[in-house]
Parts: sequence; structure tokens; C-alpha cells
Amino acid sequence: MNKIAIIGHHFISAEYWSEILDSEYQIISFEDSNELVQSLNAGEHVSLVLVDLPFDSRSRETAFNIGAYYQLPIIVLGTEGEDDKLGDFTPGERDKLSVPFGSAVLKRRLRLHLELKKERQNYQQMSEQLEKSEKMAALGQMAAGVAHEINNPIGFVSSNANLLRKYVQKIEIDLQDLEKTCAEESTGAALLLYTRWKAQAKLFRYIEDIKEISEESLEGLGRVRDIVKDLKEYAHVGEAEYENADINRMLTSTLNLLRNEIKYKAEVDTDFGELPAVQCIVSQLNQVFVNIIVNACHAIENFGVIQVTTRKDGDDHVLIRISDTGVGMPPEIRKKIFEPFFTTKPVGKGTGIGLAISHSIIERHNGEVQVESEEGSGTQFEIRLPVNHQQPSINIS
Ligand SMILES: Nc1ncnc2c1ncn2[C@@H]1O[C@H](COP(=O)(O)OP(=O)(O)OP(=O)(O)O)[C@@H](O)[C@H]1O
Ligand SMILES: [Mg+2]
Repeated sequence: MNKIAIIGHHFISAEYWSEILDSEYQIISFEDSNELVQSLNAGEHVSLVLVDLPFDSRSRETAFNIGAYYQLPIIVLGTEGEDDKLGDFTPGERDKLSVPFGSAVLKRRLRLHLELKKERQNYQQMSEQLEKSEKMAALGQMAAGVAHEINNPIGFVSSNANLLRKYVQKIEIDLQDLEKTCAEESTGAALLLYTRWKAQAKLFRYIEDIKEISEESLEGLGRVRDIVKDLKEYAHVGEAEYENADINRMLTSTLNLLRNEIKYKAEVDTDFGELPAVQCIVSQLNQVFVNIIVNACHAIENFGVIQVTTRKDGDDHVLIRISDTGVGMPPEIRKKIFEPFFTTKPVGKGTGIGLAISHSIIERHNGEVQVESEEGSGTQFEIRLPVNHQQPSINIS
């Protein structure tokens, strides 16, 4: 039920307000604007404000400012002529009503403003959504460009590091051969000389260092290559084929794949419902499951539970819920988790791209993902997928 705030009772008594509005609206009364502001700041939810104060342009202007600030429609009551001084009427924002009025007029006016308010909110949500998807698309393009540029240098730096590793191994073999040859010399002098030299030479320490450095470089390059792969994935490079797949089996194999990662962090609790085959790109959806489950492991501080549930949703959708008993997230973090490169993890532990990729994969499957999280208790991801993926139609213009 919509809640209407009434400031003052100058023209209309509290009893009369209740009589005409009580069945459709919940009414809360305030003495003045300050009282209303205090209540709004304390978290009170109000749908519309009726101002029933003696005519005084300042108090009414204050009411209009409150309306603008809290995005609430305001209706000010005034006598004929008096209300003309209130300035322009703005649909869904500020309005004036001359007393006396009939209850039907008031009710119509309230309905109109509440509908306009809802429309305005829908419009705002849509434009925010649009802005977000434009931002994601622009970042996707940038990611694809960066991935492409990085691929070349990674290629030659990797082959150099491999070559370095190979040469160092060859140097070691040559030195072993030299030692053998010296040992074959009959007087033993050559071997003595070699052994003395070996004890002093820094070459052997350098060889060990070069071996370690090239291993580390190759490992680092492997990580860069994985990031490039993720970026390409995010930017839709290399789209695979849709096939009819068993989501429960995919989840089981993902959980098996991650067994080592999970076993020290959580007990896995699965509750799989009977599901129809889902048309999807298996490798991509598996990646979504991996990303969410790995995040769940990271969110659990000591040992917790990861619950994976699947259900049929109507005839043509399935639901996949993955929840954890981890640290959870405050709302300001939850809002950002699907943004590319948003991470709360230390450098080297997270790139912040896992959920951005997952979001774009789910969108490509015409699905939805919702997150519920509470700080200190855990997080739940719910993915809703259509059973039949409709290929987007191609417009030829
Ligand atoms: N289950 C979860 N519980 C709590 N916080 C989470 C959870 N899943 C994601 N987050 C938050 O969302 C952020 C973004 O997640 P995302 O997977 O996109 O990136 P990441 O895990 O930080 O890095 P990576 O690119 O390696 O996946 C995380 O850094 C974390 O703050
Ligand atoms: Mg992650």
C-alpha cells in the first residue's frame, strides 16, 4: 500500500484525511517539513507528500525542494488564487490543489502522480541499464584491442624465455661432459684443476639463477596468457557452437575439476532437480560456474559450505543457485561486481574480470543473474537461463 505523508492540517482535518484516503493509502502526518525530512532521513519510505500548511511561499518552497531532493511528488493545497502563486505545475513532481475539492478529484490526482512516479522510475532504470551496457560494450572493444596487442610480445618473450631455459640446460650438459673428459685424463691433474675451478667459479650459481629466472618468467607469461584469453572471451572473440547440454552434469564436472581448490575451503552440498536439456555453449557456461565457485572459495575465510542447487523454472527456464557461507558483500561492492576490472582482491590474486565475463556470457545466453549477499553470512548467485536459446535475428538494411 502506498504511503502518503501529510504536512500540517490547515485546511483539512486529520479525521477527514483518514475518512477519504484510509482504505487505499496509508497516511502518516507531520507537523512541518523538518519533521518529514527527519523521518525520510531515518529511512521512512513515502510515495507522495501532501502539503496542508497556511499559505507561506517559504514553507511551500521548502516542501517543493524536499520533493526534488527525495524524488517525491508534492501536492500543495491552497485557496483559489492563492495557489496561482505557486509557480508551474510539473507532471509527477509538483502540483497544487484548490480547496475545497471533492474526494474523487483528490484520488484521481493521487493516482495520476503515483503512476507518473512509477513511469519515471522505470525510465530512469532503463536509461541506467542502457548506459551500463554501452559502457560494457566500449570496455569489451578496448579489451579485445589490448588482448590483440599483447599477444605478439607475449609470443616472442615466451620463445626467448624457453630458449634461455634450453641453452642453460645445454651449458650444464657441456660442463658435465668437460668434467667427464677431465676425469679420463690419466694423471688426474686435469680433474684436479677442473674441481678447483668449479669450487671457485660463480658460473654454477649463475646457471641455477638463470634456471629459476626463466621458470618464473615462463610462469608469469602463462598468467598473462590466461588474462589475454579471459579478455578475448569477454570481448566475444571466438564464439563457439550452441548445443543441448545437461546442466547438472556440467556442474558435477566443474565441481570435480575444482575439487582441489574447494576441499580445504568448503563442504559442497548439491541439490540437483530434474532439468530439461539447455541450449548453450558448454565451455562458456562452465567458465561461469568456475568463476562463481572459485569466488565462493575465496570468500570463505576458514571452512564453510558451498551449496549448488538446480531447478526447473516453468516449462522453458532453468535456475542455478550457487551460494556460499563466506564473508558476503556490502551493497556498495555488490553493485560493482560485474564491472570489468573491479576487484577487492590484492594485486596478483584477482584481475576483477571473472564476473564481468560471466555476466556477458549469461547475457549472450539470454539469461539473467541475480546476487543476494549479506555481510558476514554469505552470498548467493542465481542464474536463470532459457531452455531454448533464441539466436538473435540478423537485420539486413
Ligand atoms: N561469493 C562472493 N563473496 C564475496 N565477494 C564476492 C563473491 N564473488 C565476488 N565477490 C566480489 O566481487 C569482486 C569481483 O569478482 P570477480 O570474479 O569479477 O573478480 P576477482 O575474483 O576479484 O578476480 P578474477 O578476475 O581473478 O576473477 C571480487 O573481488 C569480490 O570482491
Ligand atoms: Mg573471480
